[in-house]
Amino acid sequence: MRKIYCILIALFICLFTTLPHAQSVDIKSAFADAEKQTNLMLIEIPAAKHAKPELVSPRTLNSNGELVLTPSLRWTSGFFPGELWYLYEYTGNKKWEEQAKAFTGNIEKEKYNNASHDVGFKVYCSFGNGYRLTKDEHYREVIIQAAKTLSTRFSPTIGVIKSWDTMPKWHYPVIIDNMLNLELLFEATKLSGDSSFYKIAVSHANTTLRNHFRKDFSCYHVVDYDSTTAGNIIKKGTQQGYADESAWARGQAWAIYGYTMCYRETKDPTYLKQAENVARYILNNPTMPTDLVPYWDFNAPNIPNEPKDASAAACMASGLYELSTYSKNGKIYKKAADKMMESLTKNYRSPIGENKGFILLHSTGAKPNNSEVDVPLPYADYYYLEALLRAKKIKEGKKLF
Ligand code: GLY
Repeated sequence: MRKIYCILIALFICLFTTLPHAQSVDIKSAFADAEKQTNLMLIEIPAAKHAKPELVSPRTLNSNGELVLTPSLRWTSGFFPGELWYLYEYTGNKKWEEQAKAFTGNIEKEKYNNASHDVGFKVYCSFGNGYRLTKDEHYREVIIQAAKTLSTRFSPTIGVIKSWDTMPKWHYPVIIDNMLNLELLFEATKLSGDSSFYKIAVSHANTTLRNHFRKDFSCYHVVDYDSTTAGNIIKKGTQQGYADESAWARGQAWAIYGYTMCYRETKDPTYLKQAENVARYILNNPTMPTDLVPYWDFNAPNIPNEPKDASAAACMASGLYELSTYSKNGKIYKKAADKMMESLTKNYRSPIGENKGFILLHSTGAKPNNSEVDVPLPYADYYYLEALLRAKKIKEGKKLF
């Protein structure tokens, strides 16, 4: 046991010294640029609606460079409202608060949408941040209602929340992304006193920890359960990754972020260990580039001639900053997150005034479908701003939560 512990420490010391040196990002200037881009986005959104009021938030750019919007029911609708809350948090400028309120209000009906697990992404990034910053009583009610909706997708027999209903290929699919939706449930228990949300979150996290990970702590994208039994596993595979046995980059980001957040909410050391193990997998991975912005899949066949995924790096950076505040290996995670943020800031941002106001370029949505490859995506921008705020708090010696 002692020997294994010594080997692990040695590995970490080695990793720390081999991680590329990171210069810290000028957070003030990065936010000033983000404000300029978001001002542009606010001009572009009405023009891109094409008289369709159901289109509410930015989704990406199409191949002609035109802004594509999303209706509230799609999984990405809450990220732009969340970005506006982060701009308000950093600047204190009421203008951003007004815009955040307006874009958050646009997606309120999602609190009743039980058609997928994505209610967590949608409502927590928007109303969750809104409640954190304003304590608006109505936002509290929306969060609790959304948690009730998400809970209807939980099977006590299988122990997990079902992710999708609409893909005939899968029976009872659970995707690693679903870990992020648990934050809504933890919050709803705090706001309502109803512990059932917390218990569902813990059951989902434990079952996912048992079934989604390989021996090397990389994770599958999808685990498909058999709901006609007590939850036997039908298949482990992928929908958006390169192959069933590959490590889809954003999936690994969801895992680090998700288990770090679960540790924050429960203080269960198993979750901390899991986040550390996944972090070790990605940071030691031979296909991780020196700028620490991963290719879209760690096993993509033509690396280095494969698209990158800036959204995975932004989400990893945000998760690693939080992990750095809990872990005995904190210095390593902070150094890695700093490098990711330095790379994203220097080499992956849109020039000011271009790309309809998106902040980051070079993300990949779903490469196997040739959908959203090497494009801007709102979740990249959301986690980038979140990571900047986390870096600022760490620098100032403040607690993140
Ligand atoms: N949650 C969907 C994705 O990461 O693409």
